[in-house]
Amino acid sequence: MMNMEPILTPEQIAFYQENGFIQVDNVLTLDEVAELAEAMEEAMTVDAEISVKTDKPDGAYFKVLNQKVNVWRDQGSMGKFSFHPRVAQIAKELSGADRIRFFHDHALWKMPQDSKHTPWHQDLVYWPMNEPGALSAWIPVDDVDENNGCMKFVPGSHKLGKLTGIDLVNPQNIFDFTQGTDISEKRAVIVPLKKGSCTFHHGLTFHYAHANKTDKPRRVLAVIYMPDGTTYNGAKHFITDNRFQVNDPIKGGTFPLLTK
Ligand code: SIN
Ligand code: NI
Repeated sequence: MMNMEPILTPEQIAFYQENGFIQVDNVLTLDEVAELAEAMEEAMTVDAEISVKTDKPDGAYFKVLNQKVNVWRDQGSMGKFSFHPRVAQIAKELSGADRIRFFHDHALWKMPQDSKHTPWHQDLVYWPMNEPGALSAWIPVDDVDENNGCMKFVPGSHKLGKLTGIDLVNPQNIFDFTQGTDISEKRAVIVPLKKGSCTFHHGLTFHYAHANKTDKPRRVLAVIYMPDGTTYNGAKHFITDNRFQVNDPIKGGTFPLLTK
């Protein structure tokens, strides 16, 4: 592993720390995007052996997300992107961690026409971690805007800490939990992206994705990273089941270090 030169400016890191998300342009080249799109098409089509499809095409969650977790475990060509050194280095710089580890990847597609929005939620409530440093890279292989499922974020919402798990099919209103604070939907920032560019968001940042109203799928690879040393909190999660004791560091075979 090479020790990379910093990619982000101190201003970008400060923006992320203040707001809990950031848009970073031109992270992947267009050639890489094309290769990733082809690999993900295949990963979404073949029958999986280890990676996990969250729902069947006629299920309620499928309308929110056609999702497959840990595609890299069945599809070697995805590993190049799930472990992409440049994306991992950016995650490390944003997190402030000395070293960053891979937690999991997931293909997150919104299928044409009949899709629903992804309701406002925080991610960390679903992850079995004691510490709050984990973050996601959200990497579209299609240009995204409000018509096909781009994201929006509430700046500063990561500072509220862990609230409640939102049911993504029958969602509670997360803003019911922010009364008395200055965190409201009115402050949300919509982030359209050109392919090759991506967003990073902190595990506690409120985020939402629009429905896909177009006739093509909205294809995204999301990669979840955690600071080296992040520990298991004992919660049930298929990714960590039977692997760790409470308070053990999450590490080992499927959670590789991606940076020095
Ligand atoms: C989405 O892509 O629709 C949601 C992404 C996320 O929840 O992180
Ligand atoms: Ni999320």
